[in-house]
Formats: sequence, C-alpha cells, structure tokens
Amino acid sequence: MKMLAAPATVLALWAASAQAAPNDEIAKRLEPVGQVCVQGKECKGMEVAATAGGAGGAKEPADVIAKHCNACHGTGLLGAPKVGDAAAWGERAKKEGGVDGLLAKAISGINAMPPKGTCADCSNDELKGAIKKMSGL
Ligand code: HEC
Repeated sequence: MKMLAAPATVLALWAASAQAAPNDEIAKRLEPVGQVCVQGKECKGMEVAATAGGAGGAKEPADVIAKHCNACHGTGLLGAPKVGDAAAWGERAKKEGGVDGLLAKAISGINAMPPKGTCADCSNDELKGAIKKMSGL
C-alpha cells in the first residue's frame, strides 16, 4: 500500500497546480499554435505573429508564403487555389484582370480568404511577390 501513496500524492499536486492556472492563461499558452484567422473575425495575436519575424527589409515571397499563405494555399484548404497550380491561378487572373486584380482581392479578402491572407503587415509589393510565386504568373 505504501507504494501507491507516492504516485497518488504526485497526481494530487499535479491536479492542484493544473487547476491553479486560470483558463484564459491556458488559452493564452495555446494561442500561438496554429491559429487560423477567419474573415469577419478579429484575429487577436495575429499582429504579434506577423511582426515577430518581420523587422527590417522587405519580406521574401517564400517567407510570406511559408508563414501566411501556405496554410490554405499549400493544400487547397477551403477551396484556395494551390501553390503551383498554374491553371487555377491563370483562370482567376483572367477573371480579375491579371496579377494586380488578384492582388486587390488578396488585400480586401474574398470569401474564405482573409484580408491580406493574414499577413497584416505585408506591403502590397510583398503580397504581390507571394502571389506571383504561388501562381507562377
Ligand atoms: C485561411 C486560408 C487562407 C490563407 C491563410 C490565405 N488564403 Fe488566399 N485564398 C483562400 C481561399 C479559400 C481562396 C479562394 C477564395 C474564393 O475564390 O472563394 C483564396 C484566394 C486567393 C487569391 C485569388 C483571389 C481571386 O481574386 O481569385 C489570391 C491572390 C490569394 N488567395 C492570395 C493569398 C496570399 C498572398 C496569401 C498569404 C499572404 C493568402 N492568400 C493566404 C484562403 C486563404
């Protein structure tokens, strides 16, 4: 019976400390993990993520894509045109009047596509670079 006492104490301590952390503190700790910003919703913490890697100089298209666009455009999530799918991008470009038309939609957001593709501190040129690289246009 003595053997069981120690693990039970550890468990009790663990449970007590777990409860001591208020729920929103736990939520905050989980926050930086895979947050998807949906159009129409405020995206708390997104600004922080966006500025974290970005001080100084223009962002490379590959970086912007990896950090912001790939979450959806890598797999075609929510119907996003896939990276490298020239046909899908070409069709959209035709409809919107070229890369600049696509850029305008990327800035404003379109349906499930959030404004600026979640890259709130991306300049228009940085967004355009990412669009060109994803589309091959
Ligand atoms: C949360 C998912 C998501 C993220 C993140 C995202 N996109 Fe999109 N994007 C979409 C979806 C979905 C569409 C298709 C929208 C539609 O036509 O209904 C789309 C469409 C687009 C289009 C085509 C617009 C048009 O007029 O047809 C461009 C350009 C674009 N995204 C650029 C970007 C860029 C650049 C980034 C990164 C900075 C990005 N997206 C990040 C989901 C996303």
